[in-house]
Amino acid sequence: MSQTVLVTGGAGFIGSALIRHLMNNTNNHVVNVDKLTYAGDTEGLEVFANNPRYHFERADIADMAEMSRIFSEYRPLHVMHLAAESHVDRSISGPGVFVHTNIVGTYTMLEAARAYWQDLPANIKDQFRFLHISTDEVYGHLGLEGYFSEETPYKPSSPYSASKASSDHLVRAWQRTFALPTLVTNCSNNYGPWQFPEKLIPVVINNALQARPIPIYGEGSNVRDWLYVDDHVRALCTVINTGRVGETYIIGGKGERTNLQVAYAICDALTELAPNPKIGNYRNLITFVKDRAGHDFRYAIDASKIETELKWKPQETFETGLKSTVKWYIENQEWCGRLVQKLKDHKA
Ligand SMILES: NC(=O)c1ccc[n+]([C@@H]2O[C@H](COP(=O)([O-])OP(=O)(O)OC[C@H]3O[C@@H](n4cnc5c(N)ncnc54)[C@H](O)[C@@H]3O)[C@@H](O)[C@H]2O)c1
Repeated sequence: MSQTVLVTGGAGFIGSALIRHLMNNTNNHVVNVDKLTYAGDTEGLEVFANNPRYHFERADIADMAEMSRIFSEYRPLHVMHLAAESHVDRSISGPGVFVHTNIVGTYTMLEAARAYWQDLPANIKDQFRFLHISTDEVYGHLGLEGYFSEETPYKPSSPYSASKASSDHLVRAWQRTFALPTLVTNCSNNYGPWQFPEKLIPVVINNALQARPIPIYGEGSNVRDWLYVDDHVRALCTVINTGRVGETYIIGGKGERTNLQVAYAICDALTELAPNPKIGNYRNLITFVKDRAGHDFRYAIDASKIETELKWKPQETFETGLKSTVKWYIENQEWCGRLVQKLKDHKA
């Protein structure tokens, strides 16, 4: 049966991958609610522009009147809430917008959803789900040992992770207090095609392709647990369709690597896929830069709950996912150039 899924932040990196998945693999109607901030780009969704199952609403998730209108107009069965300010460095230079979107925006989504859900007929009310997509950064950071799990206490370090932690608490409170059928996922760092060229993996690829220095924070020893975006998308669909209401599922790709290992892997893939005699070994472009303030040392995920309870597991290894990502960026340098220019215009 066809149903409607409301996706917030669908013009972002993960949201647009989710919408491509929903449009290509289900017969759902999809409503994309996105403000189109500097991070939003709809080029990866242009193929659906004339599809009657795809609907785009440019709106701010913190605008209650707009969110209420969108709920009553489209009557979604599922909400997948991804809209956020998502870049840690930006949260250090300008935290205000993180509070607005990640906290006030999530509160607004919850209130608009609750008002709509309360009046649904009983059989539909039971099927309604609100999935909040969050980050493992809410748990702070690890030393060399151990893993984050659903039981790890919250200890966010940056304004970004603190704002996401606040939004997670709001979502759980709306479930406990008002019985709104919510679920929360916390995942590790995503990578893949269409990622905004200010995040680590696209920065390394693009700088290397343009023979520019590849900036690596500190000594490059910080560890992230990399998750291929399409594996994340499959996990989100699994959770919203089969997860238990009120539960949290943490998602990881078994891809623990130091930032320096990531940079080396990209340089080696580029040497194979885009050899450049003028550069020789791409690794020579790596330049160590002053570390980020409050830089978390290591994130690593124990995803056994979603793996055993919901039977999800990643399909890509870091090697296979990285290779397709590098290929995609080589073939889409024009898109990257356009987004980098947009970023410069935005700053000007
Ligand atoms: N990228 C990752 O590695 C990662 C890891 C863990 C969790 N997450 C979470 O996943 C979600 C999506 O991340 P992403 O990397 O795709 O982010 P992104 O920055 O690429 O996209 C965010 C999208 O939200 C939109 N947006 C921002 N403010 C808005 C507002 N006020 N109203 C409506 N739309 C607004 C932007 O226009 C953009 O399209 C976020 O909630 C993020 O916290 C991301």
